[in-house]
Amino acid sequence: MKISVIGVGYLGAVHAAGMAELGHDVVGLDVDARRVRQLEAGRAPFHEPGFDETLRRGLDLGRLRFTTEYEDIAGADVHFLGLGTPQRADGFGADLASLHAAVDALAAVLPARDGSPTLVVGKSTVPAGTARGLAERLERIEGVRLLWNPEFLREGFAVGDTLEPDRVVYGVRDPEAADAEIRMLDTVYAPILDGGTPRLVMGYEAAELVKVSANAFLATKISFINAISELCEATGADVTDVSRALGMDDRIGSRFLRAGVGFGGGCLPKDIRAFIASAEDLGVGQSLGFLREVDAINQRRRVRVVELAREMLGPLRGRRITVLGAAFKPDSDDVRDSPALEVASRLMAAGAHVTVTDPEALKNARGHVEGLVTVEDTAEALRGAELVLLLTEWRRYRDLDPSVAAELVAAPRIIDGRAVLDPRTWRAAGWELRALGRPDAPARAGTQVETAGQPAADEPPAAHEPPAAHEPPAAHGRAAAASTAGPDPAAPLLSRG
Ligand code: UDX
Repeated sequence: MKISVIGVGYLGAVHAAGMAELGHDVVGLDVDARRVRQLEAGRAPFHEPGFDETLRRGLDLGRLRFTTEYEDIAGADVHFLGLGTPQRADGFGADLASLHAAVDALAAVLPARDGSPTLVVGKSTVPAGTARGLAERLERIEGVRLLWNPEFLREGFAVGDTLEPDRVVYGVRDPEAADAEIRMLDTVYAPILDGGTPRLVMGYEAAELVKVSANAFLATKISFINAISELCEATGADVTDVSRALGMDDRIGSRFLRAGVGFGGGCLPKDIRAFIASAEDLGVGQSLGFLREVDAINQRRRVRVVELAREMLGPLRGRRITVLGAAFKPDSDDVRDSPALEVASRLMAAGAHVTVTDPEALKNARGHVEGLVTVEDTAEALRGAELVLLLTEWRRYRDLDPSVAAELVAAPRIIDGRAVLDPRTWRAAGWELRALGRPDAPARAGTQVETAGQPAADEPPAAHEPPAAHEPPAAHGRAAAASTAGPDPAAPLLSRG
């Protein structure tokens, strides 16, 4: 099928390469000529495990092209909308300007068709009601049909999530009268649906709500455990004990129950705020009032790390602090609303000499925080530090050898902002270790379960939890994408075992 993907940012670029992988003839369009040139040259504009190969395969097979011109996509059968919907500068709501501009530009080139319809398929995260408004405009053109097909991909797992999603959601104007467009989108996704992925058809508004509700639920789950983490700090309990035991209840589940410095990135923070704004616009603001608290808990964790640094060092002015991690999560070079970078900025504002290291995100981090001192090599970054902060749980930081690291720093003090280090091992190696939600001294009454720390981002579930039925298999699967960043030159020196 002839497919266009309009907006080749994170979502759109991965979707375009994914559709070429499924065998379609794909043109990706973006107004950013630099990005288009980069993609056409087979260079990924972001770090995403497995994306480079998929992109290059599509280009080499001649199934994938990129353009800045709407005329080049006019004849496609299916147009996906992959535009970003960031937080508005003047409030919580979503900024839909580029989505509307793209729809206007597309409408201007779409030919009227009889016979099989031309599909426009929205993938962007939007407030409920957006699709119906866009459909009014687009469906004035003969033969054009709009579907809303939200995207649930996670950074770091984007290729696997695109080719082997948990579920596929189609939002249509009228589920009783949408056979032609449903069949057409089924053809696009045939290899995915044939593999047994469930496909759900519903109204536009439900499809829009599924996406924002999913992200709001995930954010709530993280803030819930982080609120418990505050209780743990007040009582001397260990949040990793609590979350492990909670997660063993199948009704709760262990995923997204990792306490720490909280959620960031280009989706969760702005999506919950846009959801709050949308509920208020609809006159039901009270329904999502709790999401303000979810946001507040998340912000508090960042501030708490800075307080901990003060408790350990006293006044921060002139102190040398090394931050391990800049990306909002491991296996990503994305620094949008990164908790690690916000903490680094707050420490800098307090007068500390901050050095940030990260395997992939330093270039983006420098563009984000003015005057940020970055060092690529972990050992070099640690050298001379009076305090180390682990804020993004890249495997190389989780696997640091505390004895070797102790030789490099000026004083062996560490804050584990992701509760992933084994406090006993680190303390035994001479470190003063503080961790969000974990006791300062070894636990008084030892628990039965070994509690070295929490699994890293979306690691395969613990042994007690059967793998989810939808767990994708190796090649593009979730496990396959974990911690794949290039080796750290210092890794042999610094990692344990
Ligand atoms: C998210 C959704 O998961 C995805 O379905 C949606 O399409 C886009 O938004 P992403 O932004 O890639 O994906 O990151 P995600 O893996 O959800 O992590 C978000 C943030 O939460 C990260 O900063 C991560 O460190 C944090 N997190 C995650 C926790 O603090 N604790 C957890 O238990 C899980």
